[in-house]
Amino acid sequence: MDLRSFFLLKRLLLVVAITISSCMTLLLLGSCGQQKIPLIEQKCGTCHSASIVYQTRRTEEGWRQVIHGMKIRGLVITEEEERQVYDILVRDYLLK
Ligand code: HEC
Repeated sequence: MDLRSFFLLKRLLLVVAITISSCMTLLLLGSCGQQKIPLIEQKCGTCHSASIVYQTRRTEEGWRQVIHGMKIRGLVITEEEERQVYDILVRDYLLK
């Protein structure tokens, strides 16, 4: 191997190493690739704090009404996301 390709190879290895290590760092921070912000925070934490959600307990019907109410107030949400939000609310924040 001549000196030129040696240095090229060295540079390539360096770039690969930097890419891998920075991605590992991001992974450790929980932000490599996948979005990790909880759905409730994404969907329900924009107009008011998401803690307004975490602090309340409601019945299944109550949460359905709240989501409906928030849509009237301007919440933008897909059907799929709405189902996921509803499932989380009913699973973790149910008034028993
Ligand atoms: C477009 C803005 C907006 C978004 C997005 C939003 N809200 Fe609200 N929310 C409001 C406003 C404005 C109020 C103020 C109180 C009111 O008008 O009753 C409120 C109040 C509330 C309250 C307390 C008032 C009550 O009726 O008890 C709860 C609980 C709530 N929101 C839940 C949610 C949840 C759950 C989501 C996500 C699915 C969400 N919000 C997303 C605008 C929003």
